[in-house]
Amino acid sequence: MEKILTLPPAQRTGGMPVMEALASRRSARDFDPSRQLDAQTLSNLLWAAWGINRTKGRTAPSSHNRQEIELYVFLSTGVYRYLPVEHALEQLFEDDMRAATGSQPFVGEAPVEIALISDTAKITGKSPQGIIEATYADTGFICQNIYIFCASERLSTVARALVPKEELAARLQLREGQIITLVQSVGYPAQA
Ligand SMILES: Cc1cc2nc3c(=O)[nH]c(=O)nc-3n(C[C@H](O)[C@H](O)[C@H](O)COP(=O)(O)O)c2cc1C
Repeated sequence: MEKILTLPPAQRTGGMPVMEALASRRSARDFDPSRQLDAQTLSNLLWAAWGINRTKGRTAPSSHNRQEIELYVFLSTGVYRYLPVEHALEQLFEDDMRAATGSQPFVGEAPVEIALISDTAKITGKSPQGIIEATYADTGFICQNIYIFCASERLSTVARALVPKEELAARLQLREGQIITLVQSVGYPAQA
């Protein structure tokens, strides 16, 4: 399947002052299942998470600038891979697989699930332990970008390690060496 969804250009200005965003950053597990993110908000979210912000540079650091993490974006309409150069989504599957990313009750209700998937084959010259250390550190920076963006936009988000990683990897047909590090749920807060 070769279906590319171009995202609108990310808005690189505005948002909440960073100190205010830090002051309100938190994990939230309540989501409004009826409210999707519009294309502009999704575009801004993915760019903030792990977009390109300068020549060969990204919004998050990575060990030796290996940029081994890929974002798999789960929406009600399918599963997509974020293409940072094109700032687009490549559709991989047409099924709604959001519920397959975890067992907690809100999983499947959040309109967006972002799986951080490391292509560990890109990390050369390190021990197995060193590979894990580098790629989990790289994961953490991207997750924090998502947290700060969500704080700024008053979206709910939570990073999750409680993920059925083997089953999900099989459904996503991941290659050997590709590992799911964390999944982050994103959406509008449930109505009070
Ligand atoms: C590596 C990592 C894994 C986490 N896994 C989960 C998870 O599987 N499910 C969940 O509900 N929260 C998860 N969390 C969120 C933490 O529970 C949360 O960050 C912590 O309780 C502190 O709350 P705060 O983020 O609101 O400050 C995880 C956080 C991190 C950093």
